[in-house]
Amino acid sequence: MELQIESKYIDFHQLIEYSLNSIWIVGSEEKILYSNRACLKLLKLDSPEDILYKNFCVFLPLDIHDSCKEQVKRVLKKQKKIELIESKMIRSDGGTIDVEVRIAPFYLENKILAQIIIQDITDRKITERLLNDREKLASIGQIAAGIAHEIKNPLTSVKGFLQLLKESQSHPYLDMMESELEKALDTLQNLLQVSKPDLADESFVQIDLCKELASILSLFQEKLYNVEVEMDLRDSERKANGKRNLFLKAFFNLIKNAFESIQGKGKIRIEHYYKNGWIHIKVSDTGVGISGDKLKMLGTPFFSTKSEGTGLGLTQVFTTIHEHGGNIRVQSIVGEGTTFHVQLPVK
Ligand SMILES: Nc1ncnc2c1ncn2[C@@H]1O[C@H](COP(=O)(O)OP(=O)(O)OP(=O)(O)O)[C@@H](O)[C@H]1O
Ligand SMILES: [Mg+2]
Repeated sequence: MELQIESKYIDFHQLIEYSLNSIWIVGSEEKILYSNRACLKLLKLDSPEDILYKNFCVFLPLDIHDSCKEQVKRVLKKQKKIELIESKMIRSDGGTIDVEVRIAPFYLENKILAQIIIQDITDRKITERLLNDREKLASIGQIAAGIAHEIKNPLTSVKGFLQLLKESQSHPYLDMMESELEKALDTLQNLLQVSKPDLADESFVQIDLCKELASILSLFQEKLYNVEVEMDLRDSERKANGKRNLFLKAFFNLIKNAFESIQGKGKIRIEHYYKNGWIHIKVSDTGVGISGDKLKMLGTPFFSTKSEGTGLGLTQVFTTIHEHGGNIRVQSIVGEGTTFHVQLPVK
């Protein structure tokens, strides 16, 4: 028989104190009269004294002060209509977290107080952002591939006529025209390949990424004079599943970018390990870094800051990783370096 506990035996104070949700109780003067442990942990505060009897808005960002005060007032006047407020909160160590705030009435003897429940939704927000970026990238890729496809056909016929023309008469410009046309067709072919990798083409195989990463690195021999490379390849028995050539190209592109980001001397670290059902691959460099506004552009076809770059490298990387059910995250500090963190599911 299942154990039944009568409510009179439940220590409700403990229940609130150890609740996983962060809870404050606020009175009519907007002061925090109670804060449970989860809230101290959320804000990384040491003791309740850091929070008690302070105005609750001190811990909330300026943009939601008015709406929170308004809601507290409404709750204290027993006017229901409780809204959910999404915002950011600043922790005592300066870090920010995404939170969802709900305010509801709390009755203590004959007084009405407001309970403020704060939920940390940082992880949910990160997932939402990743999905959003992925969709954006997929649609940009589709548009680019569509245009490439449309331009490729007329250009191919121009190339055919040019060849016919060359047979009937010769002119030095005709050769130049042909080679320029070839370049344009190559670019379009590349774009088509990276923005819509034809997954039907190549079969899925088990890939030993540790072995592949080591052999990709050997292609950069001449760069190793100035750049020190550290390899930390663990858990090689865990194999990724997918199209080998697409993966080789993707990791080649990531490592190439890492080398290109270093002007003069520097370091690259390549890591491979398994954790919680995923293979993790990190490519870090001590290169120039990427500023915030450029981070948002990464993976967009033709986005490049290099004079010789095509800006298709990362498009291929992002598309390949996403098509294989993986994730990719980028962290960068201008002047210090960049880390690309790839996660691939192990099936
Ligand atoms: N590790 C990195 N460090 C600093 N910037 C980077 C790094 N990786 C990518 N970038 C930035 O992102 C841009 C786009 O990269 P991407 O690989 O798509 O194109 P590219 O390297 O410019 O050209 P391509 O790869 O086609 O030769 C780069 O031009 C560079 O500004
Ligand atoms: Mg590149």
